[in-house]
Amino acid sequence: MIKAVRGTRDLLPPETQLWNSVEATVREVFRAYNFQEIRTPVFESTELFARGVGEETDIVSKEMYTWEDRGRAQSDKGQSLTLRPENTAGVVRAYIEHKLWERGLNKLYYIGPQFRRERPQKGRYRQFYQIGAEVIGPSTAGSESPARDAEILEMLATLLDRLGIQGWTLELNSVGCPADRARFNEALRTALEPVAAQMCADCQRRAVTNPLRVFDCKVPEDQPIIEKLPRISQFLDEGCRAHFDEVQAILQTVGVPFTRNDKLVRGLDYYTRTAFEFTHGALGAQNAILGGGRYDGLSEALGGPAAPGIGFAIGEDRLVMSLAESTPAPAQRPDVYIAPLGAGMNREAGKLARHLRREHLVVELGDESFKLKKSFEAAARLGPRYVLIVGENEVKSDTFALKNQETGEQRSVPRAELSTQIAAR
Ligand code: HAM
Repeated sequence: MIKAVRGTRDLLPPETQLWNSVEATVREVFRAYNFQEIRTPVFESTELFARGVGEETDIVSKEMYTWEDRGRAQSDKGQSLTLRPENTAGVVRAYIEHKLWERGLNKLYYIGPQFRRERPQKGRYRQFYQIGAEVIGPSTAGSESPARDAEILEMLATLLDRLGIQGWTLELNSVGCPADRARFNEALRTALEPVAAQMCADCQRRAVTNPLRVFDCKVPEDQPIIEKLPRISQFLDEGCRAHFDEVQAILQTVGVPFTRNDKLVRGLDYYTRTAFEFTHGALGAQNAILGGGRYDGLSEALGGPAAPGIGFAIGEDRLVMSLAESTPAPAQRPDVYIAPLGAGMNREAGKLARHLRREHLVVELGDESFKLKKSFEAAARLGPRYVLIVGENEVKSDTFALKNQETGEQRSVPRAELSTQIAAR
């Protein structure tokens, strides 16, 4: 038997209904904040992620699905391509490529699959789905303002509340500007020098190449060492400190609760200033339901104009998981099962089905080769509210036997009254 590849999975009904209703709510909320949808390709040139997300991150150094293209044309032969591990780099690439600032498009959202070769476990997949949004633009759009950070965080609180997610926590930090981080990295390097040898292999490498990434470490034995390291909060310059203070002041005024976490550095290199995660207790070890932050230098790093930005991505798999526990999706049931009875009745049944579907009823159509008993058995598996029998006598009299499956009552109903009868509760 051929099975779905490890770390990937099929989303089946009725759970797909829950996914669709989550996406419908999300689109409604994004609309209220004037975000518009962007769809970028599922694969991009590898260089985009190497430069955007950062060579030293776990995502780029270990988790990407990368291959060499084998196109015929000289132009794409040997080009290194990668399945997107995240969508921010792609959105910023599109922003630059299409000069979106000229069209005033600076608030974009996306919903789609992402790919990371991580060790699969509960809430962690190799193909997973993100719902994300980015605010990016020139200073005329006010995209560097702390008001944008607070607006994004308030939108997320509204969204999670509207979806009915209870018990979330917003963890907030500032990772400062590149100059702050350079000083912080220096201090970390010094602090790590005498202790790095006692840490895991990844941390020993990080201590040399990119000490900040030590905070990504999940190895329990390393945590007491990490606990004693300097924190980025001690290295913020005046501008970054004031920006962060204002974000917090607005959140307090609009009433969005948060906790400060000065160990939160996020696993991608593009972040500047505000960094955040929303966590949820019911998720287990993979408890981050979403993450995001500001990335003021990313556009320039990708060859674009100065365009400060901030955004987030929700892990849709985790979001649905935390919802499914409180509100399992109900199975979809047809309004009516049409049972054609006898030769030639598929045609009449098809005509009736077309009529009823145009009245927005959910119709399941049987087959004239079924005996009545088999039709009722087939209907029972689907759980319709009504079974409608279409036989020669019914067609002649233009009146059809309609059986209410809940009460067991059967009535003869003229064709013209069928749709109102079935629609009535
Ligand atoms: P991220 O923290 O790497 O950020 O991912 C965001 C969310 O995606 C995580 O909080 C988690 O819920 C979900 N996620 C990540 N990896 C997996 C996985 N293997 N399986 C299931 N869910 C997963 C980003 O991707 C940034 N692009 C977010 C952002 C947008 N920052 C600024 N703008």
